[in-house]
Amino acid sequence: MQLAERTFIVTGGGSGLGAATARMLIDAGTRVTLVDHDADSVETQARALGESALAVTADVTREADGERAIAATRERFGAIHGLINCAGIAPAEKIHGKRGVHGLDSFRRVVDINLIGTFNLLRLAVAAMQDNPTEDDDFERGVVINTASVAAFEGQIGQAAYAASKAGVVGLTLPAARELAASGIRVMAIAPGIFDTAMMQDMPAEVRDGLNAKVPFPKRMGHAEEYAALVRQILENRYLNGEVIRLDGGIRMSAT
Ligand SMILES: NC(=O)c1ccc[n+]([C@@H]2O[C@H](COP(=O)([O-])OP(=O)(O)OC[C@H]3O[C@@H](n4cnc5c(N)ncnc54)[C@H](O)[C@@H]3O)[C@@H](O)[C@H]2O)c1
Repeated sequence: MQLAERTFIVTGGGSGLGAATARMLIDAGTRVTLVDHDADSVETQARALGESALAVTADVTREADGERAIAATRERFGAIHGLINCAGIAPAEKIHGKRGVHGLDSFRRVVDINLIGTFNLLRLAVAAMQDNPTEDDDFERGVVINTASVAAFEGQIGQAAYAASKAGVVGLTLPAARELAASGIRVMAIAPGIFDTAMMQDMPAEVRDGLNAKVPFPKRMGHAEEYAALVRQILENRYLNGEVIRLDGGIRMSAT
């Protein structure tokens, strides 16, 4: 996809991987709607990006909020060419730990935000993309990029809910790509390893050091800009479709 003059929605745009992706897209000459349920951070990020950015405070799990984000984007920018789903949470909880049995509501909440929230925006964005004129000989109309995690493949102890939600994102990718191929819409997912965002910054220094040591090379957490660079490659490289790409410095997570 040609990026200039195109319009993208980035969920989780108020922080971390989503904020870096929105920045990359603005620098590439696109228009971006940043969607996040944290009003302060999404407004601040969008303001810093200038006139080509729009902030929408919305909870990705809610149908009405998703519809409002799509409508606001179409009203401001006219069309939607891409969706990058970055909104997510990663709380740790054991199935049967010191704090007792895993809560059902806490399990549901993780699946609700990470998986159902991803699907909510996907279904609404691809409906809007059907109206796009096709782009040159490949008849492309749009691209969706979801964010999974290496936890989808190697969930650690305490990640039952998180790993299950991200495995759902992985499972969604191929059937969505197959179905939407007829509309000229590609669907991809990125499975990040450990990235230096708010999600990781709250951890104690010794935990962070331990995680860095587990990465084969380079021995550090990923930078959000490295995630954004892969988003750009996926958007621009039309032959990428229906695949989950690990972006992880070679890490394979252990049980703990
Ligand atoms: N940071 C990592 O190491 C890492 C690794 C693997 C996968 N991921 C995934 O990458 C994505 C981005 O994570 P990040 O590291 O940028 O974290 P982050 O905490 O910096 O950003 C996540 C954003 O999602 C928003 N959000 C949460 N729930 C929401 C909801 N219901 N509706 C709308 N917005 C909501 C938060 O407000 C926040 O701004 C997540 O899906 C996460 O699971 C992150």
